[in-house]
Amino acid sequence: MKTYNIGIIAGDGIGPEVTNEALKVLRVVASGFDCNFVEYPYSGAHYLKTKELVPDKTIDEWKTLDAVFLGAIGHPAVEVGLVERSVILGLRFGLDLYINLRPIKLYAEHLCPLKGKTPADIDFAVVRENTEGEYTQIGGILKKGSPDEVATSTSLYTRVGIERAVRYAFELARARASANKKPGHLTLVDKANAIRPQEIWTRVFAEVGKEYPDIKQDHAYVDAFAMLMIQKPEYYDTVVTTNLYGDILTDLGSTLQGGIGIAASANLHPGKTSMFEPIHGSAPDIAGKGIACPLAAIMAAGMMLEYLGESDSANRIESSVASLLASGQIPSLDASSGLGTIQIGDMVAGAIRKSTP
Ligand code: IPM
Ligand code: MG
Repeated sequence: MKTYNIGIIAGDGIGPEVTNEALKVLRVVASGFDCNFVEYPYSGAHYLKTKELVPDKTIDEWKTLDAVFLGAIGHPAVEVGLVERSVILGLRFGLDLYINLRPIKLYAEHLCPLKGKTPADIDFAVVRENTEGEYTQIGGILKKGSPDEVATSTSLYTRVGIERAVRYAFELARARASANKKPGHLTLVDKANAIRPQEIWTRVFAEVGKEYPDIKQDHAYVDAFAMLMIQKPEYYDTVVTTNLYGDILTDLGSTLQGGIGIAASANLHPGKTSMFEPIHGSAPDIAGKGIACPLAAIMAAGMMLEYLGESDSANRIESSVASLLASGQIPSLDASSGLGTIQIGDMVAGAIRKSTP
């Protein structure tokens, strides 16, 4: 029997609470394979105790695992972004996880804040470039705190980096078209009118696009896209965009799904060790209360199984969650559901047990 070695970084705040439920679901759904969980302590809380961030040798160790699962990182008592950059960006850059795949999918009409939109209308995938743009940490502050201080932050775009993201997005658009039996459609989102160097995205998209004549190709500026994804989400199928725009648009997109409590992501280097996480943060305001919705972590675990090639188990997670939402047994994706974190994990695990042949 195949055993997957999976690194677990439960992290801070609600991270450990939602991770426990994701692991519970993984244990129940695993059939024909096993998971061996290898726990790592890195978090803001760990940093406060030990002053330790992620060492280089740990990044090398992660590369030897089958996957890494991350709960959430961020602690109010630690310098802003320090541990996030070490753990989350450490993984993305250290493992060269150049794709951040973020599905925006509505599972039940009553969850959507838009009037009259149904699950048929909200089902698109955002491919966020994950190793360039504004996130490279190129820049800094000179004469900090003085009246003369200067801050710079460089946005970096490479042809190789754009091409691999765009190609992945075209392949995904093609796969979604064949799975959903509808025409393929890929939209490039950028701000190349105001930020002229982003015109490299326009050219690379057009060049790679020539290899995909079966895929409808179009473009939206990010400001207009923020409006259009609310106005006519049904128009979109696959979207490719820069690192920062993808970060922002997918938090907005999660509200179309009913809330950030279900929004999951896959940080991928196709063919290599990849990382899976809910897109929400550590939510210190509700940590320790047992009320965080674990569905985003559970769906991220599903994306991990899909990536590992365990599609049957991945599908069982998704369909169990979908039916609990559609039936109203889980009525919402935040504390207003009246259900606790463990309770929701148990409900998903129970539904999976029932669906197991
Ligand atoms: C995300 C988060 C991260 C990001 C932060 C925590 C560095 O917002 O995964 O969306 O900006 O990418
Ligand atoms: Mg974000």
